[in-house]
Amino acid sequence: MSAARPSRNRIAVMHGVNLDQLGRRPAGHYGTLNLMQLEARISDWGAELDLAVQFFQTNHEGHFVEELHRLEDTVDGLILNPGAWTHYSWAIRDALEIAGLPAIEVHLSDVHAREEWRRVSVIGDLCVATIAGSGPDGYRDALVRLREELAR
Ligand code: DQA
Repeated sequence: MSAARPSRNRIAVMHGVNLDQLGRRPAGHYGTLNLMQLEARISDWGAELDLAVQFFQTNHEGHFVEELHRLEDTVDGLILNPGAWTHYSWAIRDALEIAGLPAIEVHLSDVHAREEWRRVSVIGDLCVATIAGSGPDGYRDALVRLREELAR
């Protein structure tokens, strides 16, 4: 990596509901990697970018909210794919606002080219960027974007 290591380099990657089922979900939308394989890939990209990446996944909305409450002092930025909660969880939106961290929203599938209800994101305007439809590579793009944001 040519640029100097960012002093703020701690990133949480948060996966929400049903993302633990990757590998069993429609491959046309979500690819074939399971969550462990996806996280391993993200970890490798993080290491290349001098970022310390930690992971979290839950199927319970309250746990996702509580994790957001907890993160303020332990990480510098967030990458989140809340799954279906993206489209309707005002509780997660409020918790993201409370966390007050730079965040990037990522979706494996192209949510804008699917059902109408997936086009709505209740967290999008709190995020620095939204990346959708690039599959696993979207997380690499998100790490690069967040690294730039943290270097400002
Ligand atoms: C998703 C898209 C959501 O609409 C869906 O409910 C998911 C995964 C994605 O990564 O493409 O569970 O966030």
